[in-house]
Amino acid sequence: MSPAVTIPPAQYGVRSEIRMPGDKSISHRAVMFAALAEGESCIQNCSLGQDNLSTIKAFQSLGVNIVRQDTTVVVNGRGWEGLQAPTQAIYCGNSGTTMRLLSGILAGCPFTSRLDGDASLRRRPMRRVTDPLRLMGASIESEGEEHCAPLRINGQQGGQKGTLKAISYQSPVASAQVKSAILLAGLRAEGQTTVIEPERSRDHTERLLPAFGGRLQVQDRTVSVEGGTPLHAQDVRVPGDFSSAAFFVGAALLLPNSELCVRDVGLNPTRTGALEIFRAMGGWIESYNERDVCGEPVGDLVIRTSALHGAEIDAALVVRAIDEFPIIAIAMAFAQGTSAIRGAQELRVKESDRLHVLATALEALGVEVEELLDGLVIQGKGRIRGGTVQSHGDHRIAMALTVAGLASGEGVVIQEPECVDISFPGFYHMVQDLTGVNLGKL
Ligand code: S3P
Repeated sequence: MSPAVTIPPAQYGVRSEIRMPGDKSISHRAVMFAALAEGESCIQNCSLGQDNLSTIKAFQSLGVNIVRQDTTVVVNGRGWEGLQAPTQAIYCGNSGTTMRLLSGILAGCPFTSRLDGDASLRRRPMRRVTDPLRLMGASIESEGEEHCAPLRINGQQGGQKGTLKAISYQSPVASAQVKSAILLAGLRAEGQTTVIEPERSRDHTERLLPAFGGRLQVQDRTVSVEGGTPLHAQDVRVPGDFSSAAFFVGAALLLPNSELCVRDVGLNPTRTGALEIFRAMGGWIESYNERDVCGEPVGDLVIRTSALHGAEIDAALVVRAIDEFPIIAIAMAFAQGTSAIRGAQELRVKESDRLHVLATALEALGVEVEELLDGLVIQGKGRIRGGTVQSHGDHRIAMALTVAGLASGEGVVIQEPECVDISFPGFYHMVQDLTGVNLGKL
């Protein structure tokens, strides 16, 4: 792909029916739990974004047999005892979920391993997982600055079966990655390990781990796991990724004459805060056929073009919309009136500093925006001009800016556009198919 992609204004609205690739968070967990289980698990509609490939390769390097045919992934687990010491550092690429959940797993394995990632992942905070894992008796050193990756996990010093200590941990951050890392280490501890969160983060681990035999208890913001329980194989069908769908929801709201149906998409309430935000802005979004697939709520969304107005985001909604702020900010720029996002300082430690990157991009597109320590104030004028912007290698920023380009007056040129492959290979092709725009050679 060329170093930049030009997104021209779309001539038509989106009127179609689409399906999203498998949910990234659930795909990571399905592969990980299957790798720790005894037997053959078949995972259908698995995400094949680069982040999920990082997880698959990580477990292959730990000796787990994983074969992939299209979006079906078959994992032959041999239990925790089947994991073997990797011969070199495990490269987690851009994936925070891979590195943080794997830290919890490797803390309970009797060998030494080293986890590394790309420049973005090396900047992300790891102390939020290494602190609680050390409390459990794990020996972890961070080789980067400021407690960051690379991480060295000396499993033989603290991780022989039964030598991790069960803890009750009050997490200072609402983070599903932190919660899941502790619960996974808790599977190798004696007794019950408990995590209490300040707000309830996405609960895919709590929903999926019991299907593999994990013994969990959930009450409000508190989750406990029973140590020493072996996992067994389980087939999983992964729902469509809500976070990927959010870009097309945004496009359908903003482009005139749109009516879009997104089928079979995950509608887990710990993830769908963006729907509440779009609706509070005047967005027309309905859900149909709500049902349960492998313990996860799934349904079809129908979205129509809507005249959006500004909204203030309640801080309590932030964790349930944490990955959707790039597209929410773009929708706010196209709305009429002032919008404010507050209590969202976590956005500074995502794949990029999303508050700063969004503020800079919106300014470059002619939007009046104020960057707060924990949020953004955006003056929406109902339209934006266009311009040249940087994705900073952040997949969700690139996809949100693509929607901005489609709805803009003059188009948007996005630098470093290929990063969409991190979660959504095929994104630009879907945009071309849906809107008829020509994005050149992809
Ligand atoms: C994820 C949890 C979230 C989210 C990330 C995926 C997961 O991060 O932003 O994209 O799969 O558990 P935090 O839990 O750190 O907020």
